[in-house]
Amino acid sequence: MSLVTLRVNGETKSLNIDTRTTLLDALREGLAMKGSKKGCDHGQCGACTVLLEGRRIYACLTLAVMHDGQEITTIEGLARGEEQHPMQAAFLKHDGFQCGYCTPGQICSSIGMLAEARMGMPSHVTADLMAANAALSDDEIRERMSGNLCRCSAYPNIVAAIRDVSRAAA
Ligand code: FES
Ligand code: FES
Repeated sequence: MSLVTLRVNGETKSLNIDTRTTLLDALREGLAMKGSKKGCDHGQCGACTVLLEGRRIYACLTLAVMHDGQEITTIEGLARGEEQHPMQAAFLKHDGFQCGYCTPGQICSSIGMLAEARMGMPSHVTADLMAANAALSDDEIRERMSGNLCRCSAYPNIVAAIRDVSRAAA
């Protein structure tokens, strides 16, 4: 067992946990924050995606003890009071979900993905490395979000939502 302190959505949370506990289980079982979903528990679906120090990460593939003192943002921490995060609003506007199980991961991942693009990180389909900061094409969005699966196949609407936010920020 080990005492771990996480900064989750701006609040300090301490947990006495088995050192083998994944970050996802620490959030869901230890802190009763069920917004981050367990789809595969194997790093294959992206349902568990959270932001760690602003970077997206699969919470099922990392141990909570590795992140002592670090800042974690989950789907529960994106809104500002009653005001939705722009990505949450875009998913609603474009109906970017059906069952909604993948949606917390899709939204956290897309926020992290746009931050990566803003930093100039290229993707597998980036043709012009100098244009990596521009509004993303649909191909770029699809490629960069390929780690987040949607069993309901809401992909066209997910891409539309992310496209909106990407263009608004460009
Ligand atoms: S639950 Fe983590 S990638 Fe599927
Ligand atoms: S909305 Fe059902 S899995 Fe994506």
